[in-house]
Amino acid sequence: MRVAILISGGGSNMVKLVEAMAAGLPATPALVLSNVAEAGGLAKAAALGVPTEVVSHRGRPRPEFDAEVDAVLRSANADVICLAGFMRIFTPDFVAGWAGQILNIHPSLLPKYPGLNTHARAIEAGDAEAGCTVHEVTADLDAGPIRGQARVPIHPSDTPASLAARVLTMEHRLYPAVLAAVARGLPGPITLA
Ligand code: GRF
Repeated sequence: MRVAILISGGGSNMVKLVEAMAAGLPATPALVLSNVAEAGGLAKAAALGVPTEVVSHRGRPRPEFDAEVDAVLRSANADVICLAGFMRIFTPDFVAGWAGQILNIHPSLLPKYPGLNTHARAIEAGDAEAGCTVHEVTADLDAGPIRGQARVPIHPSDTPASLAARVLTMEHRLYPAVLAAVARGLPGPITLA
């Protein structure tokens, strides 16, 4: 199974996925693609020996951007696409071309808090816990079938930053666990406490 990982920033989740594949997860990191040339994750991917590509979204209509990303992914013979800190929303046409093959990690316990600023919203709501979700990407934002979730407590002293750090640690465990299940054809969803 060939895995393409899409990033927009530091790529900490990408690193964990590539390391898991290097440690025996039965899949191959085929490509790391970013929409941002300055993404710190690109250098990390290169250092790990993974081919990288940049497809800039700047100044380009969304369908044109999506078409170029699609072409790059197909030329890499990707079987699964992992969005990992990827901050673009694909058109329904793009998603339809990869039905059931795109995963995303979102820093909340979906269906709670789709979209942005998830940690601040959970704290503001007085929630006792937060977490992260790996889900299949569909045309609707952060709404596809859930393949895994991990929960963390929210402490009274938490700020969005301290909560984000705790959730990110769980993201780094959850995403490889879900990808391993996908690679092995195991049914989800996976729950990490
Ligand atoms: C993480 O909080 C992740 O949940 C979100 O993007 C953030 C940065 O991820 N999707 P990474 O360090 O670039 O993997």
